[in-house]
Amino acid sequence: MASLLTTLFLLQLFAISAFTSPYDRGGSPAAGPVPGGAAAPGPDVTAAPSPADGDTHGASDYAKPEIETNYKGAWAIDNPNVGVCAMHLQLMPNDQVIWYDATSLGPSARKLEPEGNCPINPDANNKSDCWAHALAYDWKTSKSRTIKLWGEPWCSSGNLWPNGSMVATGGTLSGVKAVRMMPMDDFKADFIEKRDALGDFRWYSSNQILEDGTAIIVGGREAFSYEIVPPSLEFQPKKVDLPFLKETCTPAKETNMFIENNLYPFLFLLTDGNVFLFANNRSITLNPTSGKIIQEHPVCPGGSRNYPPSGNSAILPLKMSSDNTGALNVEIVICGGNKPDAFEKVDVKHVKDKEKEFVPALKDCHRIHPMDKDAQWEDEQDMPSSRIMGDLLHLPTGDLIMISGAQKGTSGWENAIEPNFTPLLYQPFKPMGSRFTEMNPTNISRMYHSSSALLPDTKVLVAGSNPHQFYTFNATFPTELRVEKFSPHYLDSKLDIHRPVVDEKGTEKVLKYGKQFKIAASIQSKKPLVLGEVKVTMLYPPFTTHGFSQNQRMIVPTLTDVADNVITALAPPSGKFAPPGYYILFVNYLGVPGTGIWVHID
Ligand SMILES: *[C@@H]1O[C@H](CO)[C@@H](O)[C@H](O)[C@H]1NC(C)=O
Ligand SMILES: *[C@@H]1O[C@H](CO)[C@@H](O)[C@H](O)[C@H]1NC(C)=O
Ligand SMILES: *[C@@H]1O[C@H](CO)[C@@H](O)[C@H](O)[C@H]1NC(C)=O
Ligand SMILES: *[C@@H]1O[C@H](CO)[C@@H](O)[C@H](O)[C@H]1NC(C)=O
Ligand SMILES: *[C@@H]1O[C@H](CO)[C@@H](O)[C@H](O)[C@H]1NC(C)=O
Repeated sequence: MASLLTTLFLLQLFAISAFTSPYDRGGSPAAGPVPGGAAAPGPDVTAAPSPADGDTHGASDYAKPEIETNYKGAWAIDNPNVGVCAMHLQLMPNDQVIWYDATSLGPSARKLEPEGNCPINPDANNKSDCWAHALAYDWKTSKSRTIKLWGEPWCSSGNLWPNGSMVATGGTLSGVKAVRMMPMDDFKADFIEKRDALGDFRWYSSNQILEDGTAIIVGGREAFSYEIVPPSLEFQPKKVDLPFLKETCTPAKETNMFIENNLYPFLFLLTDGNVFLFANNRSITLNPTSGKIIQEHPVCPGGSRNYPPSGNSAILPLKMSSDNTGALNVEIVICGGNKPDAFEKVDVKHVKDKEKEFVPALKDCHRIHPMDKDAQWEDEQDMPSSRIMGDLLHLPTGDLIMISGAQKGTSGWENAIEPNFTPLLYQPFKPMGSRFTEMNPTNISRMYHSSSALLPDTKVLVAGSNPHQFYTFNATFPTELRVEKFSPHYLDSKLDIHRPVVDEKGTEKVLKYGKQFKIAASIQSKKPLVLGEVKVTMLYPPFTTHGFSQNQRMIVPTLTDVADNVITALAPPSGKFAPPGYYILFVNYLGVPGTGIWVHID
């Protein structure tokens, strides 16, 4: 009883502090780090309650404690051998999960279909190549088809266009400046490719979709620049130099002996339209239109966070204010990675015939409110185990999950050991000390060149892992062709009675910025839904590769009314909050999410 009361008390304080804090509303001078000065980032649960109007409605927090479960989740094989490793992965709004591997690194384990389909491979001496390097995996049926893909997309980037089609940008060799499109409305399509379309070489770059549906593409190996690419295959390339990328690049020891530590930079669209860019251990806020650096943030202590030390990062859920004019909290978290010299100590190019040293990965996490005037990194709780190359994914509940990766070494072939089998539930607004919960482990190693995605059915799809140059099965960490699904804690069958079901017929799926929309939903227990007990979340589905989920974004829209099992919500006010495109919309009842549906916003 006492602990229930404490939880209730803390929840109430959290709700009040969340709704009265001025911080992050456009970085106003009044905004500042969390009051109280404690090292606890996020809403300060220890602060005295302010004389607020107690308006816990209007937005998305619960007025009651969440329904608890001790269930730690379950793993299941979804497909025993899919034949193509998932180096890059994107869930599309047509429920196809697109993934692909490199095309210049030899055969996969599956022939391109139909039999005898052996196109010329420009990155394998123009010989014909009968192997598939790309797949469309239907997450509902676990069936897949092969896709033809030409110019090498190895270590490329990507995003969705506002119309739901997918775009893959860059790679290496013949694909280093390519743009490839996978249409959403054609279930038989191959990638439609345009070579030499980009303004610079984009090998290990990151994308972020902007408020108008264009995408900024940042960095890449020896590409100290960015460019903005419209949702089209026809455009004039224009690169903009960005010396910050050179400054944050740990220089090569000798020709071709790269260290870098700043590839696949972490990129997030802020709610004023600017972009937060994190590379190695430094970060800036960049105006993507003018190219101006608006703010340089303090150095993040502790080590290197980008490729090859490959830590992970996410922008925390953007919870809209009750008047729908701003997000109550714009905050970024960074976890894991490794020491700046971890790659030199393990990679064969540097180590040569000396013994490899697998440096233990970092456990520390840090958080920043980048729109604050004097934004500071605040120490987050340490993770219970070290992690590199993991994926940090949003869950429908507003929590996050850290999944896959390794505990020692770095990205790169043969560069890591000690897989991290244990997914970690991350609840960023719980009191410090109780933010991480270990879930049930898998027994399949998912390290370099693995990826994952949250699905509309609220499970997490996990695929890939190939820490070798070629497909290799007789090794300690073999090329992994099994597809798994992880059912997180909230899929405890004991919670099914509380699980919301969205009635698609009574739900508006075409949302307009700032306008009201209605969601019809009910819970299996037949208990009517009321304001304060429901929370709606909207996920922008990311492009995941090398431990970073590009474009990932979770919006928590304001709710204005719940009556007769119809929720009235406000669509976010603009593309600065929610770039145009498709989102998975979930309804949660006191922490129990139901299957999501696809909605479109513009
Ligand atoms: C690994 O886990 C699966 C369940 O996902 C189980 O069926 C299998 O027996 C386990 N294998 C080993 C070697 O523990
Ligand atoms: C492959 O063919 C293309 C087009 O014919 C040509 O431009 C390219 O140089 C060839 N590449 C190799 C490695 O022969
Ligand atoms: C999406 O936009 C692209 C580029 O304009 C176009 O080629 C494609 O056909 C569009 N797809 C859909 C489904 O509208
Ligand atoms: C940031 O990274 C650079 C390059 O690895 C390193 O020299 C510097 O000491 C780091 N700074 C801090 C505060 O960790
Ligand atoms: C794995 O197989 C390859 C090719 O058959 C062979 O060259 C290699 O020595 C094998 N490695 C191990 C660890 O058995």
